[in-house]
Amino acid sequence: MSQTVNAVVVKEKNGPAVLEQIIVPDPIAGEVVVDILTCGVCQTDQHYQQGEVGDNFPYLLGHEATGRVSKIGEGVSNVKVGDTVILNWRAVCGECRACRKGEPQYCFDTHNASQKMTLTDGTELEAALGIGAFAEKTLVAAGQCTVIQDIPEESNAAVGLLGCGIMAGIGAAINTGEVQRGESVAVIGVGGVGTAAVLGAKLAGATTIIAVDLDERKLAKAKELGSTHTVNPKESDAVEAIRALTGGFGADVVIDAVGRPETYKQAFYARDLAGRVVLVGVPDPSLTLEIPLADVFGRGGSLKSSWYGDCLPSRDFPMLVSHYRAGNLDLDAFVTERVGLDQVQEAFETMNRGEVLRSVVELQPSPTN
Ligand SMILES: NC(=O)c1ccc[n+]([C@@H]2O[C@H](COP(=O)([O-])OP(=O)(O)OC[C@H]3O[C@@H](n4cnc5c(N)ncnc54)[C@H](O)[C@@H]3O)[C@@H](O)[C@H]2O)c1
Ligand SMILES: [Zn+2]
Ligand SMILES: [Zn+2]
Repeated sequence: MSQTVNAVVVKEKNGPAVLEQIIVPDPIAGEVVVDILTCGVCQTDQHYQQGEVGDNFPYLLGHEATGRVSKIGEGVSNVKVGDTVILNWRAVCGECRACRKGEPQYCFDTHNASQKMTLTDGTELEAALGIGAFAEKTLVAAGQCTVIQDIPEESNAAVGLLGCGIMAGIGAAINTGEVQRGESVAVIGVGGVGTAAVLGAKLAGATTIIAVDLDERKLAKAKELGSTHTVNPKESDAVEAIRALTGGFGADVVIDAVGRPETYKQAFYARDLAGRVVLVGVPDPSLTLEIPLADVFGRGGSLKSSWYGDCLPSRDFPMLVSHYRAGNLDLDAFVTERVGLDQVQEAFETMNRGEVLRSVVELQPSPTN
């Protein structure tokens, strides 16, 4: 039987994120209903609200989540009712050309639930990143669930952030950038994603980690969490400063977690010869980049973009949760505040003022489930 629950919906472009009742159908083959426990508030939710992802309103927001599996459809074997899971937006298909090449981290045909959740009047909802987890319950594809074990209840808020931005940042360093022990890394823009890249670089054994940001509060936090140096481009030229901190040569890897032409150029010129640039910030579609082709050739190395940190949730989430449990990865530091499901719009405003790494919505599962 379908279930009616509270959820956060945006009905029209730039409309408010409001609590609405939605209908969650029973799972069919390959689908799972998850009772949401926690869900982080991410820039991407706001991009949906502002119509920058598409025009398929109404959107059901939320995608950095943990939850408990409450119903499974036919043939589902990777999770069972009662499992605690992190949701992901890369349920790989196993059949597309990327998957067949053995590169499932680039899967071009990732799975979501095949049924739609709806408003009570039957209007179909488009779930943010195929998840829609600012909701008491959501319907996803089974492959969007990764089981986590031995995590205290209060850690769910932090661990759920691996579902999007924090994985993107860590993965930009360890997967896309392939940071090695003893290397130097600079990260431009240390919000949630960039700070996660700092942690990823540290985890991979980088010995010089330079955080670059215009906001001193962000630099202070990055320093607390493992960057060895900080640079504020308002005070000194970012490229010169990074070179000065790396023996005059530039960093082995520079990660652009902002995604603007000026930050990408800084990343390009602040890396050593044959170094790597990783773009993880998502550029506005109107932006273009101009770099002399002779410099692209002459500086060598690689220029890569990182989608979701090139992660494989089934491989990377359990590994990172183990590091969290072992005390090697401070995910708790990203949870700046915990809020209710009715406070998402407020949390967007807090995020826009630059006051948080993440606000996380926490829900109390109802005992009747
Ligand atoms: N590639 C992916 O799969 C993926 C996944 C999630 C998020 N993202 C993207 O990553 C980017 C960062 O997300 P976030 O959640 O960390 O956002 P955020 O707002 O928390 O952080 C952005 C940071 O960049 C800083 N900044 C802005 N302009 C700068 C400049 N010119 N020089 C230096 N610092 C500057 C800001 O002060 C802020 O600290 C966004 O574009 C987001 O859409 C990408
Ligand atoms: Zn695929
Ligand atoms: Zn996100």
